[in-house]
Amino acid sequence: MDIRVKTTQPESHKSACIVVAIHQKRQLSPSAALADSACNKRISDLIKKGDFDGKMGHTQLLDNPDGITAERILLVGAGSQKKLTLSSYRKMHSNILGALKKANIKDAVLYTTELEIKEAHKDTTSVADKTRHAGEALLEANYSFTELKSTDKKAATLKTITLNIQNKRDMPKAQQALKTATAIASGMDIARRLGNLPGNICTPTYLAKQAVEQSKSCKKTKVTILGEVEMKKLKMGSLLSVSQGSREAAKLIVIEYKGGKAKDKPYVLVGKGVTFDTGGISLKPGAAMDEMKFDMCGAAGVIGTMASVSALQLNINVVAIVPCVENMPDGAATKPGDIVTSMSGQTIEILNTDAEGRLILCDALTYAEKFDPKTVIDTATLTGACVVALGSHCSATLSNNDKLAQDLLTAGTTSGDRTWQMPLWDDYQDQLKSNFADMANIGGREAGTITAACFLARFTKKYKWAHIDIAGVAWNSGAKKGATGRPVPLLTQYLMNQK
Ligand code: BES
Ligand code: MN
Ligand code: ZN
Repeated sequence: MDIRVKTTQPESHKSACIVVAIHQKRQLSPSAALADSACNKRISDLIKKGDFDGKMGHTQLLDNPDGITAERILLVGAGSQKKLTLSSYRKMHSNILGALKKANIKDAVLYTTELEIKEAHKDTTSVADKTRHAGEALLEANYSFTELKSTDKKAATLKTITLNIQNKRDMPKAQQALKTATAIASGMDIARRLGNLPGNICTPTYLAKQAVEQSKSCKKTKVTILGEVEMKKLKMGSLLSVSQGSREAAKLIVIEYKGGKAKDKPYVLVGKGVTFDTGGISLKPGAAMDEMKFDMCGAAGVIGTMASVSALQLNINVVAIVPCVENMPDGAATKPGDIVTSMSGQTIEILNTDAEGRLILCDALTYAEKFDPKTVIDTATLTGACVVALGSHCSATLSNNDKLAQDLLTAGTTSGDRTWQMPLWDDYQDQLKSNFADMANIGGREAGTITAACFLARFTKKYKWAHIDIAGVAWNSGAKKGATGRPVPLLTQYLMNQK
């Protein structure tokens, strides 16, 4: 599906469908009003009858309207005019896409960048920003995962969507915004696909191959894959202890993107790549265990972000470090109480083999030192506690640098992929005390997201670092089960904001 921007008139634009918004209660947007007067008040008649009231996201299709060049009109509810937020604006575009697909429409023009968005942090949203979010939401809603179905693969009818830009003056910025949207959406598609692939296909080896494949299309990108022998040489005892119960070999993927000057310090991204998390000997309960195939969504998010970064050709240096393992119970698996030595030299008593994410991240974070990073951001589906604390609307950010945390919160607001800060006070460090090693890998029942970050903080003292727990946002459960592509928008926005 192709998205374009253009300046057109709703009554005279030639297309299969024009899409105009109606606010609650029964208020026509400017373009809806234009279309209405051109088609003998067909829209306002319908509204008067009470058939359509402008509730957020509701849609209604009108066939063969007189006086209008387009074959159909799709009305979309934009809710109360005073309450149109960025997130409802995006939701509205998902619904538009759903309605267009359902009606087998092949092309449509949307008059939605004229709507006013109200956000607490600013008075107005630019046409460029609205173009970007409309574009992203449409592309996001157009995603489907069908590669493992033997049927159900018919070609899509919807080919083109045009976003109307009322004022020609806004066109250059709108075009730029659309490029951003396309780049971010393509990174999200990659992340979602990798997330959705099952554990028997998406293994550490598979992820490594995908990263190599992806790098071939970008001259500025180089990929290195470290195997278990190399990791052993680097003394990554913590990482390797997680995969020792699995028949799948662990991999450390390193992706280097050089868009800046040779001497520019890189931004380093680290993503948790547990391709399946059974919990190991501390075996998880059976219910919904299939969802632990999503435990590599940090890895997928980082790999997807690297694709967005190369699509945008950002002029900075970025390094992705992606530790990939499978966490399995087995005769060779780590047992509770086992003590391992991390690459940093610090020893860890593994009291729960299900707290494995931090065990692979800590060695990847120590490895990050060699790049002399500007900042390091790791992202992981790290704790169930994060889902309890924040639900599925935002991720959690914890950082040893307040400016970095603030930059991430800002990037979250701008991109719509929101994150919220949690404290990383030393007071919580006591919970990681061990009688037998430098630290334990779990911190008890209280503040699970914070103690997990406190564990990582012991390995990130040499640079500015933030940790993003995406356990609540990386995938949806239930009927809409599937990877979301988060945190690609957040990470890409953060990187776009640098320099
Ligand atoms: N991958 C899980 C975290 C998770 C669980 C994310 C459910 C989303 C939904 C992680 O490896 C894990 O098992 N964490 C444990 C840590 C605990 C043993 C300290 C958890 O959250 O229960
Ligand atoms: Mn686990
Ligand atoms: Zn896990």
